[in-house]
Amino acid sequence: MELIKTVAEMAALGHGWRAANKKVGIVPTMGYLHEGHLELAKTSVANNEITVMTIFVNPIQFGPNEDLDCYPRDLAGDLAKAESVGVDYVFAPQPADMYPKTYSCSIDITGVSETLCGQSRPGHFQGVCAVITKLFNLVQPTNAYFGQKDGQQLAVIKHLAADFNMPVKINGVPIVREADGLAKSSRNVYLDEECRKQALVLSQSLQVAKRLYDEGQRDASMIKAAVRAHIETAPLAEIEYVEIVDALTMQPVGKLEDEVMLALAVRFKTTRLIDNILLGGEA
Ligand code: PAF
Repeated sequence: MELIKTVAEMAALGHGWRAANKKVGIVPTMGYLHEGHLELAKTSVANNEITVMTIFVNPIQFGPNEDLDCYPRDLAGDLAKAESVGVDYVFAPQPADMYPKTYSCSIDITGVSETLCGQSRPGHFQGVCAVITKLFNLVQPTNAYFGQKDGQQLAVIKHLAADFNMPVKINGVPIVREADGLAKSSRNVYLDEECRKQALVLSQSLQVAKRLYDEGQRDASMIKAAVRAHIETAPLAEIEYVEIVDALTMQPVGKLEDEVMLALAVRFKTTRLIDNILLGGEA
C-alpha cells in the first residue's frame, strides 16, 4: 500500500489510471476508521482493480460550533487498517493543499440537502459536495463507496454526480452495527458509559418502526410518534429530528408508499448521533 500526501501526486496517478482504462474504486473518509469504513473498502477491493481510500478531515463541512478541532484522528492506525483489507493507496492531503488561499468555489445543492441534517448543519452539504468533487477529479474513480449510515449524504452525492454528469457510479453500502445494535461511527468514542448505554434506544427505535411497517402501518406520523416515544425512554436523549423522507429526494412523506428512509438525529450530552432505516422499496 502506498501513502499519497500531495494533490499533485494524486492527480498524476488518477489521470494515468483513467488514460489506461483502469477500474478504480474510491472510498472517501475522514479517518479514525472503524468496521463501517472497512466494509466500504472491502466492497471496493472486491469490485475494482485499484482502491484508493482518502483520509481527510474536510474543514469546510464543519460549522463554527462543531467538532473540527477535536475530531478524532489516528493516521498510523488507519494506515494499518486500510492495508489489512487490501487498499492499494491512501490519499491523505493537507488542508492547505486542498484549499489554497485562491480557493473560492462552492457547490450550492438545493432540495435534497435542505431537510434533516441540512437544517441543523447549514453549509455542511456544500462542503461535502466540494470535497467530493475535488476527490473525484483527482482520483478519477469508476466507482465510489459511501455508507448508508449517512443516508442523506449518500442521496446528496448521488444528485451531485447525476447533475454534473460525473463519470462515476455511486454505491451505497449497508450500515455496520455493534453487536448490541449501535451504528458504528467515529463519534461513538465521545460517548461516556451512561450515554453509550442509553444510545441503544436509537437502533431499537428503528426496529419499533420496522415492526409497525411490517404490521401494515403506513401513516408516517404514527410511526414517528412511536419512534419518538421509544427514544424518550432514555433520559439523556435530546431529539433533534425523527423524520420519514422519500429515499431519493429526502423530502418528508405523510404516507409510506415508495421506498422511504426513517432518519433520526439525537444528542447524548455533547455527542450528536444519527441513524436510519430504509422501509419499503425492493429489499
Ligand atoms: O462521511 C464522511 O466521512 C465525509 O462526509 C466524507 C464523505 C468523507 C466527505 O468529507
